[in-house]
Amino acid sequence: MNTYDQWWRDSVIYQIYPLTFADSNGDGMGDLQGIIQRLDYLNDGQSEHQTSLGIDAIWLCPIYPSPMVDNGYDVSHYTDIHPHLGTLADFDVLLQEAHQRDIKVILDLVINHTSDQHDWFAESRTSQDNPKADWYIWQDPTEDEAVPNNWLSYLGGSGWTFEPQRQQYYFHTFSPHQPDLNWRHPAVKEAIYKVIRFWFDRGVDGFRLDASSAYSKDPAFRNNPLKFGKTDADNYDSYHHLYDKNLPDNHQIIADIRKVLDEYEHKVLIGETFIDNQLYDSVAFYGPDQGELDLAFSFELPFSPWYPGYLHRAIVKKERFVPDPAWPTHFLDNHDLPRHLSHWIDCSLCTDSAALAKAAATLLLTVRGTSVLYYGQELGMEDNLEIPPEQRQDTASSPDQKDGQSSRDGARTPMQWDSFTHAGFSFGKTVKPWLPVHRNAAEVNIEVEGQDPNSVLNFYRQLLWIRKQSDALRRGAWKSLIAYPHEHLAYTRTTDRETVLILINFSGAKEIDLGISCKSNRWRVLLSTELQIDKVVDIPETLKPFEVSILRQE
Ligand code: GLC
Repeated sequence: MNTYDQWWRDSVIYQIYPLTFADSNGDGMGDLQGIIQRLDYLNDGQSEHQTSLGIDAIWLCPIYPSPMVDNGYDVSHYTDIHPHLGTLADFDVLLQEAHQRDIKVILDLVINHTSDQHDWFAESRTSQDNPKADWYIWQDPTEDEAVPNNWLSYLGGSGWTFEPQRQQYYFHTFSPHQPDLNWRHPAVKEAIYKVIRFWFDRGVDGFRLDASSAYSKDPAFRNNPLKFGKTDADNYDSYHHLYDKNLPDNHQIIADIRKVLDEYEHKVLIGETFIDNQLYDSVAFYGPDQGELDLAFSFELPFSPWYPGYLHRAIVKKERFVPDPAWPTHFLDNHDLPRHLSHWIDCSLCTDSAALAKAAATLLLTVRGTSVLYYGQELGMEDNLEIPPEQRQDTASSPDQKDGQSSRDGARTPMQWDSFTHAGFSFGKTVKPWLPVHRNAAEVNIEVEGQDPNSVLNFYRQLLWIRKQSDALRRGAWKSLIAYPHEHLAYTRTTDRETVLILINFSGAKEIDLGISCKSNRWRVLLSTELQIDKVVDIPETLKPFEVSILRQE
């Protein structure tokens, strides 16, 4: 396929956390009808208008039936919808309405594990010889009745839980309520391929593969070696995870999934390639001849401090290690991490979160690759760190994350639509929203920001708009104009016909000398926090605190 036919290369994907995006029936939980009602906000399908955000695809976190131990990442039925979120009929309407607006729909496919309430596991756990006995990863206790090996759960403690009915242990990369599937079993593969076909036949446009580096496990169940100098044997990060994730044959599993995708046209496969060596390994996930993933999430940008040197290095690494025709993916936020504003405001010593949000948005949306936004990021939403213990929902996160500071709940609070009840997320007066609304919702919301030309929301709208208009910003080559940045970034995106220059001052306190020279001195301002838009200017000599300017060569 010609790479220009691959819609996802030009796309901005918008991640929706369905539980807290929009609640249409007032029960406190977001739902599919809520999403449908808000589609025009995301993209009204009228490309000549700038009124909607203008994103190209939505990625929905899991919407399947689930006991919600891990907010849907514990699936108990793969081909249905969680009753709180709606029905399959609602989903069909969502698909149709999204497609009418040129919005593609990507689902989260959680297939490293199921819920322990899934029928497959209910059967598998009953005996050692039932038809699904080998669908999960079962092992006998050791001779002294201990766990089979030293593999840990990502959430803390041993990864093995004893099942009295079978007198065996099962393995779970995450919580004991999320038993890992046995990807070496042909019937498991076929069952999952059927799930994939089910959703493609309904019309979905792709999948994000959850925990996609963890499918394959060592058939000999060897112990993971401790890293040099590490003594804390109960800490997941103390180990080289040689035998419980990122095994070489994990790639074959993904390549086989890819083959199912290729039975259809124009589908996208995105992987959560969250692995120890980060980028270097995640490159391998594209596979020879692009036979695996289309897009691979690696975590360099969100894990960097707000410092141009680090972020520059992360971008350079991607440029170098994601070789053509493979295509980079960038994001700052997702449902597992603190929101970037909360994280970066601390390390930038700044109090102007709106200015920081605009600078960060510029970086995300002007480097080469597909960008992924997390709901509310376009408003400058921050983590809600004031969730009382009794209202926390993230029961799957590790015990030491339950302090409310680092629980994932803070980044999953209701979308802030307006200044009314529950920030417009939900209207139920007596029902509490799934998680409490952030206390800044009266000012940080779509209605208020929509009316302020200088708001973060309007900045995102303009930025997304100019990206849509510019081949250079979507596809052009990236080149840094500064070798060792420590105060600002200056880079170009170039195609045969267009050069765009991006300038970002990382300091909220200091005016800095730009210190670059370019052949041309005639630049049209596409977007700027300081310069007049559409004016033709010389390259500025200095950048004001947090100045962002995007200029196109005349
Ligand atoms: C992924 C998800 C995370 C979930 C875990 C287990 O990392 O992003 O939210 O808890 O997988 O499914």
